[in-house]
Amino acid sequence: MQDKVDAILKEIADSKATDQQELEEYRLKFISKKSVIGELFNELKAVPNDQKKAWGMKLNELKQSAQVKFRELIDTMDSGESSASVDHVDLTLPPVGGEPGSMHPLSYIRYRIIEIFQKIGFNVVDGPEIEDDWHNFTALNFPENHPAREMQDTFFIERDPDIMLRTHTSNVQIRLMEQQKPPLRSIMLGRVFRNEAISARAHCVFHQVEALYVDKNVSFVNLKHTLYHFAREMFSKDTKVRYRPSFFPFTEPSAEIDISCQICGGSGCQLCKYTGWVEIGGSGMVDPNVLTSCGIDPEEYTGFAFGLGIERITQLKFRVNDLRLYTENDVRFLKQFRTLH
Ligand code: DAH
Repeated sequence: MQDKVDAILKEIADSKATDQQELEEYRLKFISKKSVIGELFNELKAVPNDQKKAWGMKLNELKQSAQVKFRELIDTMDSGESSASVDHVDLTLPPVGGEPGSMHPLSYIRYRIIEIFQKIGFNVVDGPEIEDDWHNFTALNFPENHPAREMQDTFFIERDPDIMLRTHTSNVQIRLMEQQKPPLRSIMLGRVFRNEAISARAHCVFHQVEALYVDKNVSFVNLKHTLYHFAREMFSKDTKVRYRPSFFPFTEPSAEIDISCQICGGSGCQLCKYTGWVEIGGSGMVDPNVLTSCGIDPEEYTGFAFGLGIERITQLKFRVNDLRLYTENDVRFLKQFRTLH
């Protein structure tokens, strides 16, 4: 038995493999179940009991040597192959295969919104996601004990003085009015945060677009026509818009904005809860208190503002029925938007 082991060890040490076939021959001879080593393991049965343990260990060592050599043969073949194939790489050829990435549906809608409003004279303004109480609440005329300030809605980062993740994009209205004199005609887009449990219909992070128009003689008619124009451009020419009286601390009067349901065309479906209308945001005439807080004279200037949910617009446009899809990065979802640009 020892002779056989020695002979096999020598053979293993001398083995070479320059192609797949030789590699396979090695595998069959030394690694597979029916290999010469496998046969020796069968012979173990005939070995007297008191020697079995020692021979078992020897054979296992032999098996390991065969495997170590096998890996070496694979490695040398791999490196041999790659250095050989370098000569065959034509660097002037265009790349093959490779799928180009695609635009996220929320980014696409964001760009569409910007495009629509820029054409009618709105510029884009940016603001911070981490905000103080003044810009997120106080300057927007939120009373001291307004429920929106409470813990269940707002992610506070620090208390007294309060620093928070902004709960809406309306904070940028204040920053803009503090920095610039009217006329102002801007949109502000970005992420907002609310302490909500994540589900198909609610998320703790979502996106809004805010609009602010402040000038002499701005009226509710300007608001209505701006939104009507937006709805027709974003969706279709026969989209209808309606306003429901509402309340926001920073606008007076205030209205919620509904558009005719884009899924069923107004005849009634699950999304519009069989009403034919879907809410896309809030709006109103800027409250004089807000203008005053920002150093703008409400006797001289008036303004309108609105805030729309970007996820909601995207949902209506592409029939996305679960908010979580936007952030889960599932390629099966993202690939469905490959044609967007
Ligand atoms: N900030 C409001 C919200 O997040 C939406 C909103 C309502 C914005 C009315 C406005 C507005 O600019 O005028 O629910």
